[in-house]
Amino acid sequence: MDNIKKYMLGNPIETEAAVYEIEAAKGPCPCLEMDAQEMEIRCPLGDDDIVYGLGQQVRGINKRGWKYTSFSSDDPNHTENKESLYGAHNFLVVDGGNPFGIFLDTPEKVSFDIGYSKPDALCIRLSSWNAKCYVIEGDSAYDIVKSFRKLIGPSYLPPKWAFGFGQSRWGYQSQQDIEEVLAGHEEHGLPLDMVYLDIDYMDQYMDFTVDKEKFPDFPGFVEKVKSKGIRLVPIIDAGVKIKEGYEVYEEGAAKGYFCKDGEGKDFVGAVWPGRVHFPDMLNEKARKWFGDKYKVLLEQGIEGFWNDMNEPAIFYSERRLAQVFEKLEEYKGKNLGIDSFFEMQDMVRGLSNHQEDYQSFYHSYRGQDIRHDKVHNMYGYFMTRAASEAFGRIEPDKRILLFSRASYIGMHRYGGIWMGDNHSWWSHLLLNIKMLANLNMCGFLYTGADIGGFGSDTTEDLLLRWYAFGIFTPLMRNHSALGTRRQETYQFTDIESLRGLLRLRYMLLPYIYSEYMKAALQGDLYAKPLAFAYPEDAQASSIEDQLLIGESIMVAPVYEQNAKGRYVYLPEDMKLYRMRSPEDMDEEMYAKGIHFVCAAPNEVLLFVRAGRLVPVAKAASSVADLDMGHLGLLGFVDNKDAVYELYDDDGYSKACSLEGHIRRITPAEGVTISP
Ligand code: GLC
Repeated sequence: MDNIKKYMLGNPIETEAAVYEIEAAKGPCPCLEMDAQEMEIRCPLGDDDIVYGLGQQVRGINKRGWKYTSFSSDDPNHTENKESLYGAHNFLVVDGGNPFGIFLDTPEKVSFDIGYSKPDALCIRLSSWNAKCYVIEGDSAYDIVKSFRKLIGPSYLPPKWAFGFGQSRWGYQSQQDIEEVLAGHEEHGLPLDMVYLDIDYMDQYMDFTVDKEKFPDFPGFVEKVKSKGIRLVPIIDAGVKIKEGYEVYEEGAAKGYFCKDGEGKDFVGAVWPGRVHFPDMLNEKARKWFGDKYKVLLEQGIEGFWNDMNEPAIFYSERRLAQVFEKLEEYKGKNLGIDSFFEMQDMVRGLSNHQEDYQSFYHSYRGQDIRHDKVHNMYGYFMTRAASEAFGRIEPDKRILLFSRASYIGMHRYGGIWMGDNHSWWSHLLLNIKMLANLNMCGFLYTGADIGGFGSDTTEDLLLRWYAFGIFTPLMRNHSALGTRRQETYQFTDIESLRGLLRLRYMLLPYIYSEYMKAALQGDLYAKPLAFAYPEDAQASSIEDQLLIGESIMVAPVYEQNAKGRYVYLPEDMKLYRMRSPEDMDEEMYAKGIHFVCAAPNEVLLFVRAGRLVPVAKAASSVADLDMGHLGLLGFVDNKDAVYELYDDDGYSKACSLEGHIRRITPAEGVTISP
């Protein structure tokens, strides 16, 4: 780790993001100006420099030209003008003549002005002069990313079934609704591995409860579904409902495990269940206590969870609500004009996720009382860590599915993330593609967006195009919001095309799983920008709507409505597999350069790189049914000695390593070229 220097600014709060201890550097940093007075870190940007990173953020793979803020935010409108989403991923690579990476390790708010105020300058502003500032050198952006990944440790390993397709919706009210989803998939021959349970499964939105009226025999139902090869994956929210007689609330209060307000009382916020307390995930004892609660559901047969609202989202705090009500009285009976009307509207809208609320409660972290805003970005990370550590105690040998909404660098060791509340917008399909690359750089390999879009009504063509890209994202889940158009695959006209795409996911699963596991075990990227593989190719560095998936595949998704195809940049000659289903595909050769490639709405454009192979299986109805013993190969090779190193394992043991799990497959082995 000689290429990583750590500069200690003030007295930073430990986040445990890095897994290596690096001695503090002495003397000034050669590439960054550190201005303690202004609390800024600055450097010039060359005309052609590209700035990669920031993980879950709006805009491009190249972050230049906007300002971003790391402050975990529950914001369901991921529009270009936003500065914060759910993740706080303070890692950047400035890729120019002398490329270097910066990781600013602090759980406080940090803002990044990347050529926004001055086009030729990067300026990072801290909330206080306390941070560990890691500076990483390397020959290329890709090398720097790989060094950073070493520093922050290996990525989370989900069970193999978590690479199947999952169906979700906020609003599945009961066992009957879930049964309908299962039947819909079965009836139409749609593969399925997971059905997600959103907050509706709980009793009054109380964590670790199941509504008995909606699910009279929950363990029995979980088992019955599992016998079809399908898992139910429930949501867990951060806030614990305040309700007499509710064990989690009573225990947490009695043990002092909730965050405290300024007067030492349990802080009261409100989320879905109404008034809640927030478990102090940073307090080691509270974390263990909360994590152990997952056992209640594990014991009922559950093997995976999604953690939500853990920025934490606060719809309102009790104190602020009282102030707003008081103020509203003043508006009563008045003739509200331009100022007063908007003032009133802003006041009500501003109730949620208010900065002052985040400054009004406290954690007990490493023996110290710390105000929440100083550690805000760690909350979701430590909630997910609570669950992961508990799984290690309860199920030491089994991989449990876990992903979160909020995150910080380092959380990638404990779980994945999904991209949050996107919309059924074409622009969000494109954002999905771009975000995937930057999240991979930050270690979040197990990730994906709500396919089809969460908010707003989806359309059939959008769903088709989104599936055509979504089949490559490790987390592949169709999820939508309450009140939006139904979005399950079987609700549409052209089910056959959608089925073809879903079945392609299962056909490609040997490759997807193998590439994921190899990347996770070696600190590499599962999805990466073209520039990382073709560093000498100036044109490749500006391509933001194509990605390399693993070592063999380049994808070029269509993300515009009514498009007949798209322009594709090929950095080398490639073979295109134009795929409609595992049984229906054509091959075409494309030469290096720019081409307009036609793509019907039901087609996936899968380009195979020269000399590379892609192992495929016969599509199956679930991951458990995949026959990994009889694989086929897609490929662009001219000799039978070409090799693909396939990683495979039992899919659930924690003991994963490359050793003993790699199978070398070659066309000469007699594997068929198409499945
Ligand atoms: C949040 C989540 C979303 C979920 C909803 C209800 O908005 O991001 O995925 O469906 O809460 O639980």
